[in-house]
Amino acid sequence: METTEKIWLNGKIIDWDDAKIHVLTHALHYSSGVFEGVRFYATPKGPAVFRLEEHTKRLFYSAGVLEMELPYSAEGINKAVTDLIRINKIKSGYIRPIAYYSYGRMGLNPSGIPVDVCVAIWPWGKYLGKDAVQVKTSKYIRIHPKSVISDAKICGYYINSILASLEVKRAGYDEALLLDYQGNVAEGPGENIFWIKNGKLFTVPPGSILLGITRDSVKTLARDMGMQVEETQITLDKLKKADEVFFTGTAAEITGVGQIDDTLIGDGHLGKITAGLRDRYLKIVGGQDEKYAHWLSYVNS
Ligand SMILES: Cc1ncc(COP(=O)(O)O)c(C=O)c1O
Repeated sequence: METTEKIWLNGKIIDWDDAKIHVLTHALHYSSGVFEGVRFYATPKGPAVFRLEEHTKRLFYSAGVLEMELPYSAEGINKAVTDLIRINKIKSGYIRPIAYYSYGRMGLNPSGIPVDVCVAIWPWGKYLGKDAVQVKTSKYIRIHPKSVISDAKICGYYINSILASLEVKRAGYDEALLLDYQGNVAEGPGENIFWIKNGKLFTVPPGSILLGITRDSVKTLARDMGMQVEETQITLDKLKKADEVFFTGTAAEITGVGQIDDTLIGDGHLGKITAGLRDRYLKIVGGQDEKYAHWLSYVNS
């Protein structure tokens, strides 16, 4: 992976190579951590973080689900992020805040175990590498909402995403699609899903999915662009008959879905409406749309 010079760990800025943990760290064994994926972009006014406050809010929400008390305020975490970008002097990239039960005791009750908090950043280009990806429905379903609290971003949940990704990559596809426990479409391993039918935009309602911040941004943006937006369940068969399908996520941004299993969506390329939404999204994150300036936290302000 691409690296940077410094990492923020428990309030201190340290060298990338010194950000190490003990092998008996609780989270290494039981995945008892919470994390965020955030992006920052080059803008005419220098680097800006996209929807930092919402990401930090979700980090605290996820921590609460694990009854983990973070020894920093939201403002403290936000400052760590912007300081780190300034110190590492990179113009755009990915931000990974993570908090985890650290070293102290083993066993499945983590209460009282020290909590470490870390922020790392690094350059990260296009996550899925294409304008429109080929997707395969995974044999694994998205974790049952009665097994976990679905809308928290907890490290352990990602084994579900990893298994699905390994399965479909082995079969030659770019990305997985996971159904929910009722057989409806849920989401990608690290993306929410949208579809367009007769000019109207749809996405999956809360329940089994992570409530993506990009999902929220796209819903807002589409409504502002005059589109009707609705949250509804959809079967895989119906999804395959949509006019356009796309993924959203901090890493994936807005990426078209050109194929699901053996079925082409549209002509298999990035759809026209999706392209319009994506172009507008990229303008917003790049600080070229005043209307959404409040979604950006400038690093040099
Ligand atoms: C399972 C899952 N769904 C959806 C998303 C998209 O969320 P966001 O737009 O907040 O990055 C992510 C990425 O964080 C994810 O891991």
